[in-house]
Amino acid sequence: MASKAGHTPEDDYTAEPFLPERGGLPALRRAAADCRGCPLHRDATQTVFGEGTATARVMLVGEQPGDQEDRQGRPFVGPAGHVLDRALAVAGIDPGETYRTNAVKHFKFEHVAGRGKRRIHKAPTLREMTACGPWLARETALVAPEVLVVLGATAGRALFGSSFRVGEERGALTERQVHSRAVPVLATVHPSAVLRADDRDAAFDGLVRDLTVAAEALAR
Ligand code: URA
Ligand code: SF4
Repeated sequence: MASKAGHTPEDDYTAEPFLPERGGLPALRRAAADCRGCPLHRDATQTVFGEGTATARVMLVGEQPGDQEDRQGRPFVGPAGHVLDRALAVAGIDPGETYRTNAVKHFKFEHVAGRGKRRIHKAPTLREMTACGPWLARETALVAPEVLVVLGATAGRALFGSSFRVGEERGALTERQVHSRAVPVLATVHPSAVLRADDRDAAFDGLVRDLTVAAEALAR
């Protein structure tokens, strides 16, 4: 299809037409399974929608599904998810109180020469994150969490723009605008950053320390 000058097809990326007009999380999840709002649906196995109940008190927002999540169709079931589960347990946050989702709902990957069939995670572009935003906006509205935990810089940039710096923002609970809705937000590192860290124990303790701030807010 020809595009007008200065107007690339990428500008048209958006999940908006795929969102149901009404309904709760189950209707939203069903609709998301058919989203073709950006090209990421083409190579991925399936949409990995958020998981948890609308009454969850904590909403955890990651970047995008990984290899395991793409295969299983559930968020945070791979190595990063295991780190997250352990950190939540140490911080004293009940998994049943959490709703887990990602800024982008399809796995973006590449095959790297010399690494066989392994699918290597590739960071989503700002346009892909923006395209996928309507799902996250509706999830946030339906869950209305008491604390929204931003896991890592990519999720932070997806929600708050490219100036977001996780190192500067982490560990402090602040009310912020999330898709035009005031929500108490706590940023921390992504659990996969713990796995990549030179000192994994220290990085894990840092994640727990941040999550404890959320746990304390829930206890108040
Ligand atoms: N990393 C994420 O950001 N989300 C997942 O669901 C899994 C890994
Ligand atoms: Fe739709 Fe998001 Fe998947 Fe793109 S990544 S196709 S916007 S669900």
